Formats: sequence, structure tokens, C-alpha cells
Amino acid sequence: MSSMIGKKRSALNERVQDFAGNDCCFPLLRRMMRHHRHTYEHSLRVAGLALKLCEAMDYAAAERDVVLRSSLLHDIGKLSVPIGLLDKSEALSQTEWDIIKDHCRNGDTLLRAWGMAGLVDCDMVLYHHENVDGSGYGGVRESKLSKSVKLLRVVDSYDAMTVNRSYNRARTHEEALDELYRCSGRCYDRNVVDTFYRVMSECC
Ligand SMILES: [Fe+2]
Repeated sequence: MSSMIGKKRSALNERVQDFAGNDCCFPLLRRMMRHHRHTYEHSLRVAGLALKLCEAMDYAAAERDVVLRSSLLHDIGKLSVPIGLLDKSEALSQTEWDIIKDHCRNGDTLLRAWGMAGLVDCDMVLYHHENVDGSGYGGVRESKLSKSVKLLRVVDSYDAMTVNRSYNRARTHEEALDELYRCSGRCYDRNVVDTFYRVMSECC
């Protein structure tokens, strides 16, 4: 199962890399690659999964490209977070935690300052750590969270759960899906989780 997922996901990543290499987001993505390789690779994988969900959710091509670009740049605010903090395995102080949490707002600010507001969905960047029950980073209400924000919340979490970090053991595909379901309705939109499960069962 995991090797099948690996093959399908690398094909997805190739599609995303083709898109990114020819898109206006590439210079920013390259900056991220130089700043923090893990976040760059995470962004590519997240965009690949977002692409599959867009196809399953019948996004129009132009809308899908915005989601793809926004997924590639969703963590761009981490450019202003020191590498030592991004990779820190010990418990974070409240100040450090606040700096990490600020990457959503910083990303939104950076993208607007760089004239990308019409090319990306800034809400996807700003709200990608918000939960549907209002318990996320900024405590934003579900009524402010778009379909694309909810989509990104799921695929971002899935990827974060299934990759080894110094502070976190990678979960298996099945464990990550279980966790998405366990937290659906609280952190994640139930319909998006259902669609994600179907997409991963059918194609990966
Ligand atoms: Fe993030």
C-alpha cells in the first residue's frame, strides 16, 4: 500500500513541479527551498494532494490553479521564522510558539506586499491553521473559512502527520486517516475528509 502511495504521489509531485517551474510563484518557492528545505518539500507534497482534491471537488481550471499556487506558498511566512526554531525538537516557549503561529499572518502580509494578492487566495494562507470549531491559531469562525481553506487544512495536516520530524514520529497512511476522521467536525470539515479518504482510496 505505501509503495503504491509513493508512486502515485511522486507522479502528483511531478505535475506540481511542472506547474511551479512555469508559474509566477517559482521565485518565492525557490527562496523557501534555500531557507528551509523541509518546508519547500512539504509545500510541493501539499500542493499535489490539493490538486487531487480540486479534481475530485470539480474545481474549474482557473480556480484550481489559484489553489495550487496558494498551497505551494501557504507556509511562505516561515521565511521570517529562524531555521533553528523551525527544526527545534525541544518544547517551545510561549514566545517561540507565538513566532511560529505568526507565519500565517506573515505569509498573508508578504504575499500582498509582493503583489501576489490577485494570484493567490490569501485566505488560504492566513487561515490554513484554523479549525472548523473555531479552536485554531486565530480562533476564526467557520463561517469565514472557505471550501479551499478547509481543503488545505486537511491536506496540510495529512502531510505533516505522515512525515518524520525531529519532534514528531511519522504516522502511517492509515493512522493519519484515522486521525483526520477522529478530528473531523472539530478541526476538519467532514465533507473534505470524506472526499480526501475517497480520493486516497481510489487513486493512491
Ligand atoms: Fe503552516
